[in-house]
Amino acid sequence: MSDNQIDFTDRVVVVTGGGNGLGKCYAMEFAKRGAKVVVNDLGGTGTGAGADQIVAQKVVSEIQAMGGTAVANSDSVLEGDKVVQTALDAFGRVDAVVNNAGFLRDGSFHKMTEADWDLVLKVHLYGSFAVTRAAWPYMRDQGFGRVVMTASGAGIYGNFGQANYAAAKLGLHGLAQTLAHEGRAKGILVNTIAPVAASRLTSTVMPPEVLEGLKPEYVSPLVLLLCSENHTETGQLFEVGGGWIARIRWQQSNGARFDSDEGFSAEELSARWDEVQNFDSAQTPSDISSTLQAVGENIGVKIGVAPQ
Ligand SMILES: NC(=O)c1ccc[n+]([C@@H]2O[C@H](COP(=O)([O-])OP(=O)(O)OC[C@H]3O[C@@H](n4cnc5c(N)ncnc54)[C@H](O)[C@@H]3O)[C@@H](O)[C@H]2O)c1
Repeated sequence: MSDNQIDFTDRVVVVTGGGNGLGKCYAMEFAKRGAKVVVNDLGGTGTGAGADQIVAQKVVSEIQAMGGTAVANSDSVLEGDKVVQTALDAFGRVDAVVNNAGFLRDGSFHKMTEADWDLVLKVHLYGSFAVTRAAWPYMRDQGFGRVVMTASGAGIYGNFGQANYAAAKLGLHGLAQTLAHEGRAKGILVNTIAPVAASRLTSTVMPPEVLEGLKPEYVSPLVLLLCSENHTETGQLFEVGGGWIARIRWQQSNGARFDSDEGFSAEELSARWDEVQNFDSAQTPSDISSTLQAVGENIGVKIGVAPQ
């Protein structure tokens, strides 16, 4: 076994939305590397209608047929305590949660119904909250945990017709960054991926020759790495698909500084707008202290962050 061999023997991994697409691929790959896997899937349609217990069970049967260990859970991720209870009942612990379940209710903002907004926010943001929140105390107690959130390019950059989805998806990165701070001292790492892969969600919007190059198997290595014992970084965001993996981070422009005693007008700000837009010596802050430091320097006061 090489030094960087990734092995999940004796680890219990919950994969939400593990019945199809990316989640199914993750569940299979974790099982191949010895994990005991909870395959959660409500089994509804790509727009979140209906439910079917067979969907999770079929993946469990496939894992068992290749000699792996898995149990099915068919609850909605909104019932995160039940999902995690399945892991505890079957395997006695939970080491990693891959928050992957979700569906789309696309439509331009002026036509978006409140139901479409709510349902998409619920499944992605509230669902990831519910499952992670249920697993969190166990991860804290054992001093080990790995959480992966699933964002989207639509959340990072915005995408026409996906206001609900984009809001939920970037919300997940915000959640992950905070949980990264809160979990670090307890050995819990929380990272976010924004994948691109062939699945029933993308099969209607991309041609077959593109889908052919977007195998879920090109996303799963990143998820496995982020959930492994070997990994040490937390709070990071990655774009991944088609064999390409890149990290995304925030950039802060040089910024314009005004005398905080004298104040300044909108016109004065307008006259120096190029400084706000100038990234020549941009910073790449990784926590809120750097922002508070810049603000504090400008008013001549050291601003501390809240106690951790
Ligand atoms: N495929 C892509 O290119 C892409 C791009 C960006 C983000 N994503 C995200 O990746 C994740 C997986 O997407 P996919 O493309 O594999 O889609 P998919 O439809 O193949 O799989 C999603 C699974 O989630 C399940 N699910 C839906 N609601 C659920 C609920 N309430 N509780 C439990 N399970 C539920 C579905 O039954 C389905 O099996 C999603 O979060 C999606 O938003 C995918």
